[in-house]
Amino acid sequence: MRPDLRLRARRRPLWGTATAAHQIEGNNVNSDFWLAENVAPTLFREPSGDACDSYHRYPEDVALAAELGFNAYRFGIEWARIEPEPGAFSDAELDHYARVLEACHAHGLAPMVTLSHWTVPRWFAARGGFEAEDSAELFGRFAERVALRLGPLMAAATTFNECNIGRLVRVMFRLDSPRAVAARQAMFVACAQACGSDRWASVLFADIDKSEAHQIDAHQRAVEALKAGPGDYPVGLTIAMQAVEGVGPDHRAQSMTEVINGPWIDAAAPCDFVGVQTYTRMRVGPEGAERTAAGYEFYPQALGATIRFAAEAIGKPIYVTENGIATNDDSRRIAYIDAALAEVRTAIADGLDVRGYFHWSLLDNFEWTFGYAQRFGLIEVDRRTFARKAKPSAVHLGRIARQAGARSAR
Ligand code: FCB
Repeated sequence: MRPDLRLRARRRPLWGTATAAHQIEGNNVNSDFWLAENVAPTLFREPSGDACDSYHRYPEDVALAAELGFNAYRFGIEWARIEPEPGAFSDAELDHYARVLEACHAHGLAPMVTLSHWTVPRWFAARGGFEAEDSAELFGRFAERVALRLGPLMAAATTFNECNIGRLVRVMFRLDSPRAVAARQAMFVACAQACGSDRWASVLFADIDKSEAHQIDAHQRAVEALKAGPGDYPVGLTIAMQAVEGVGPDHRAQSMTEVINGPWIDAAAPCDFVGVQTYTRMRVGPEGAERTAAGYEFYPQALGATIRFAAEAIGKPIYVTENGIATNDDSRRIAYIDAALAEVRTAIADGLDVRGYFHWSLLDNFEWTFGYAQRFGLIEVDRRTFARKAKPSAVHLGRIARQAGARSAR
């Protein structure tokens, strides 16, 4: 452990990339998503399989990130690996994540850890996920184990990734339509049957009326566990924030924002920071606007609006914990990065407390139901050999990060 480095990391701005365990590790076989990807019918275009094999190749990933010029790395630990059966915690898996953290420190990267990036253990989903009355207690127990073993090595931690995702996907992908509900239900039934259960619940496709209160309780328990444990690092919550812009006089932009954020703005109260995660704006789009490969409008300026919103609504220090673009044209990624960073600089110049920027993502990876087609990575990954190749955007952003790091060290 290098406490000196951790303390330095707390003071200097963090420039990093963001990843999630399930999207890069591969073979996350005890997770709910693994099963959902492999049942019939499924909403997933393809299974995650080996992903980027980062479970084994993290030393290379961490070294690459450092070499490019970053000073921080956001990654997720996988609950399904750490507690593959209820109450059966794996010391070997906790040791694995300790090694990932050590590797970050050895390369001068401040590690920001996500406790839960949508996936949960399969057994947890099969007992109703966060719909179950005692789900918060179970998540709290997991957080406690993590805090005790990994706390001394963490530079920052967040509880839930995009805690409001259940709300956002409903609005963005219209998951309330009867067809979408039926398709999801069919996949859930197949998952439940595969586990010999009569229920199944997922974070990404949550029925928030049944799960949200428990999830907030789980978040609060996790914050307490992290803060009570060893180590001294800021604890936050990351929120999906697309800039919602009204078109025309009768727009409902404000009420739409309230629907998307729900009670999570208040839930950030016990946190030391909030993680802003922004990809685009939401509006009745102008015809002909450029779209990214994810179908979003190309609109990096959205980040300025969400940073301002977070500063006003939550009033905590801010890290941009995700921001990026799915594209096969890397020059558009560079343009997106430059425009998004211009927003960050303006926000800082205006006095807002923005402490870091994490680009999504280090690697081209498993983009949930969309499979591997959407490429958000700064680094290309060969799907068969797993060879990594930095794109020009990686070199571009790495150079910016290095220069910013050098400035702040002066
Ligand atoms: C965010 C998720 C992340 C990734 C990006 C593209 O909403 O947190 O895992 O899928 O979108």
